[in-house]
Amino acid sequence: MKIEDVCRLAPVVPVLIVEELAHAAPLARALSAGGLKALEVTLRTPCALDAIRAMVDAAPDAVVGAGTLMTPADVYAAVEAGARFGVSPGLSNRVLDAAEDAGLPMLPGVATPSEAMAGMERGLTHLKFFPAEANGGAPVLKAWASPLAGVSFCPTGGIGLGNAKDYLGLSNVVCVGGSWVAPAKLMAAGDWAGIETLAAEAAALPV
Ligand code: 3PG
Repeated sequence: MKIEDVCRLAPVVPVLIVEELAHAAPLARALSAGGLKALEVTLRTPCALDAIRAMVDAAPDAVVGAGTLMTPADVYAAVEAGARFGVSPGLSNRVLDAAEDAGLPMLPGVATPSEAMAGMERGLTHLKFFPAEANGGAPVLKAWASPLAGVSFCPTGGIGLGNAKDYLGLSNVVCVGGSWVAPAKLMAAGDWAGIETLAAEAAALPV
């Protein structure tokens, strides 16, 4: 699956920080049942790679990816765990080379036109805009649409149900990323029905 197909699975890609391995399977089932089919598991917790494995088994209709890929070793470990796409906070040629070598579709982060151009020079057509709100939000992406034609963005960082529409209405935005659909509090409480409701609200956002 190409990264553009991953981005088109749903309006929102959940950014997941899984602290407890036992949460992975019910979390993936709840998000997928709510209609969010591309799931980004950040490699920020000790159980993240095992969480990817558990989610792949638990929610076969979801496409599970790995986020916070910082090194080539992260890329290879993510692929070995079953990740089908990768996300990084920035644009690293070492990480992108490894992902090309491993056949992992990537969504690297950019925050400036120069970084976006560096991605375009590598042939990338889909980039993450990060951190979206802190970098000026939807007005910045709107201003990039004409000069940076040919690139679509997945803005992430500071986005929630309230402002997602501001981004999704732009011609150069294909989806948004965000952690709001899987709050730590609901995960700790095992409130998978609550997470499914948040996912369904997010999945219903107009694109
Ligand atoms: C992250 O990498 O943590 C994402 O940008 C998520 O940001 P959010 O928590 O503001 O949705």
